[in-house]
Amino acid sequence: MPAPTSLPIWKIHDDILGTLQAGNRLVLVAPTGSGKTTQVPQMLLDAGIVGDKMIVVLQPRRVAARTVATRVASERAGKLGAEVGYQIRFDNSTSPGTRIAFVTEGILLRWLQDDRTLANVGAVVFDEFHERNLLSDVALALVKDLQRSERPDLHMLVMSATLDAEPVAAYLDQCSILISEGQSYPVEVDYLRLPDQRPITVQAADAVERILNDNAPGDILVFMPGRGEINGTLDVLRGMRTQENAACIPLHGGLEPKEQDRAFASNPLRKIVVATNVAETSITIDGIRHVVDSGVARVARYDAERGIGTLTLEPISRASADQRKGRAGRTATGSCHRLWTEGGHRNREERNTPEIQRSDLAEVVLLLHSLGIREATTFDWLDKPDVQAVERAEFLLTMLGALLDADLTDIGRQMLRLPMHPRYSRMLIEASQRDCVPDVALCAALASGRDLLTRLDREDAESAITREMFEDSEESDFITLMRAFDFAKSNRFSFDRCRSHGINAQVARQVDDTYKQILNSAQQQRLYDHDAGSGSPAKNNHALLRCLMTGFIDQLAKRRESGKPDCDLSEQREGQLVRESVVQDAEFFVAANLHQVSSRGGQRTLLSLATAVQPAWIAEMFPQHLSSGLEHVFDGGNKRVAAMKLVRFRDLIIEQKAQQNDLDPRASGRCLAEAHDNGAFELERMDHKLKQFIARVNLL
Ligand code: CDP
Ligand code: MG
Repeated sequence: MPAPTSLPIWKIHDDILGTLQAGNRLVLVAPTGSGKTTQVPQMLLDAGIVGDKMIVVLQPRRVAARTVATRVASERAGKLGAEVGYQIRFDNSTSPGTRIAFVTEGILLRWLQDDRTLANVGAVVFDEFHERNLLSDVALALVKDLQRSERPDLHMLVMSATLDAEPVAAYLDQCSILISEGQSYPVEVDYLRLPDQRPITVQAADAVERILNDNAPGDILVFMPGRGEINGTLDVLRGMRTQENAACIPLHGGLEPKEQDRAFASNPLRKIVVATNVAETSITIDGIRHVVDSGVARVARYDAERGIGTLTLEPISRASADQRKGRAGRTATGSCHRLWTEGGHRNREERNTPEIQRSDLAEVVLLLHSLGIREATTFDWLDKPDVQAVERAEFLLTMLGALLDADLTDIGRQMLRLPMHPRYSRMLIEASQRDCVPDVALCAALASGRDLLTRLDREDAESAITREMFEDSEESDFITLMRAFDFAKSNRFSFDRCRSHGINAQVARQVDDTYKQILNSAQQQRLYDHDAGSGSPAKNNHALLRCLMTGFIDQLAKRRESGKPDCDLSEQREGQLVRESVVQDAEFFVAANLHQVSSRGGQRTLLSLATAVQPAWIAEMFPQHLSSGLEHVFDGGNKRVAAMKLVRFRDLIIEQKAQQNDLDPRASGRCLAEAHDNGAFELERMDHKLKQFIARVNLL
C-alpha cells in the first residue's frame, strides 16, 4: 500500500481544515482517485474538528460504502467496525466506538427519524454528490436545516469529482469552494464508425478482444448497465479466442462481499473487470488502462402510468462518459472505447438530471412529514421538485391512509419503517394483519417490475390454452401472475420452458430477487416470521384481495354495466378494463395499472392488472374516504324526483338506496329545476311566448 499522504488531496490538506475550522461548510471538487473519500474523513478526525463526535460519510452506493470503509480501516491499522465502520441496508458494521461511518443516504435519513438533532454526529460528508440522487438531495436539505436551527456546530462537506460547484456553494449560503486539479494522463477515445445492432454484450467483448490482440498492456474495465448484461458479457468473453489468459471479474451490488473484493485484489493475470456504474466515480480499481463503455445505465424514473418508480435503460450523459473515460488515465496513458458513434455523442445530454425532478416523490413526502415538514413544495431545496409531483404524492398518501388532513397517521408511521414505495409498504402492513405477507410481497414484486407475461396472440389457440393454465381465478390478475411465476420458478427460470408458456424468464428472475428483498424487509420489521411458517400460500382467499385493494385504493373502479369494460373512478376519472383481464364480472375492482392511449374519440384510460373487491371492504377499511347522505336525483325513466341514500367513495357512488319517504319538497323543487335546465323534460305550458317573456324580463 503506497503512503496515502502521497495522494493529491494531501496537497490541499491545510486548506480543507482551515476552511472547515473557520466556517463549517465546504464544497470540495477533486478528480476521482485523488483521495477524497478515503483521506478527507481521516483528516477531519485527526485534526479534532468533530471533538468526540462521529464523522458520517454519505455514499450513494452500497458496494462503495463497504469497500471504502474496509480500506480506511486497514489504512488506520484497525478492525473494520471499530474506529471505522459502515452501515448499509441489511448490513451494519459499526459499534459505539465508531468515529468514521460510511453509510448510504437511507441510513442517515433513518437516524434523523430517530434523533432529529443527530446529537452524536459532528460532521456530515456528502460524497459523490454529482450523482444527485433523490435521497442525497433530501439529506442535504435536512442537514442544512438542522445546522441552521439546532446544530450550528455541525460541519457539512460536499465532495465530488465532477460537480458544478457554484450552485451548491450558493445554496449553502455562498460557502467556500476548494478545487484540486489532481493528475491524469491522456486517454485516447474511439467511437463506432457506424451504429452496431448487435447486443451490447457482444460488442463489448469484441472491443476487449481487440485490446488483447493489440498487446496493449494494462487491466480493462467494461461498463455495463446491470447484472444481466454483466453476466452476458462474461459469457461471451469466456468463449473468446485469444492467446492471452485473462481473469474475468464481475462487479455489482448484488455480489457477495468476497466476490466484490476480487475486483480490487491484485491478480497475476490481466484483469478484465465488468462493472456497473459503481466503477464510474465511487470506487477506484488500480491498474486500469483501458475502458470499454456500453454508454447506457439503468436510471430510476417515475412511471406515471403505473404510478410507481421503475428502472429504465438510458444513454448516459456526456459528463458520465467523461468520468468513465478518465478511469483509464489515472496512472499512465490509456484508451477508451465507446460503443456509440461520435454523432450520437453530441446528441447526448450534457449532465444527469437531478432525480428529484424526475422521480416519484411519495416515499420522500412521507419521510418529510415524519420530520415535521408538511410543505414539501416550499421547503428549501437545492433544486425544487415539480409542484404537481408533490401534489400527486400527497394525494396518494392521503388515499392510502398514511396522511389524514396533512397529518401523519399511525399507519403512515408504520409504513415509514419499510424501505419501499408507499403502495407496497401499505399492502405489507395490511398483510401482516391478515397473515399473508409472502403472497403480498410477491404481488408487490410482480407489480413493480416489467411485464412478466408476453403479449398474448388470441388467434393462436396454443398460446391461449397455455395462458388459461394460469388463469384459475376470476378474482385477480395478480393470481394469474403468481401462478405463472410459480411455474417459472419451479422450472428454474428455464428460458425455453418460460417462453413456450408466454413468460419472460428474465423478468421472472428479477421478480424473484425483488420478492426476496421485500420479504426480508418485512421480516426485519417483524411483520412476518419466516420460521413460524406463517402465511403459507393461500391464493384464493379474500385476505390477499383486501391487501391488494389497500395498495391501489386510489385506482378503485366501478363498472357501469355488468360484463362491459367501461368504468368510473373517483375524481371524475373514467377508464376501460382491458379485455385480457380475468376480472370480467365484478362491479368493483382496483386496477394496478392505468395506461393512457389515444384513440378515435381522443384520450382513453386503459385499466389493467385488476383485482375484484367488495364494497363492504371499502367501507370497513377506508371509512375516512366515505361520505353518505340523502340526495335528490331526477329519475329520467319515471320522470320524477327520487330521494336516494347515496354512499360515495370520494365522489364515486358506491351504494344507493331509494328512500322515497324522506323526499323533501324544497330539495325536490331544486332538483326538478336543475333537471329542466339540463333539458331532461319540457314543461307543458312553457311555449315560445313564455320563453320570450322570461328572456325579456331577464334582460330588464
Ligand atoms: O474519492 P476519490 O476518488 O478521490 O479517491 P479514493 O476513493 O479516496 O481513493 C484514493 C486512492 O486510494 C485510489 O487512487 C486507490 O489507489 C486507493 N484505494 C484502493 O486502493 N482501494 C480502495 N478500496 C480504495 C482506494
Ligand atoms: Mg470517492
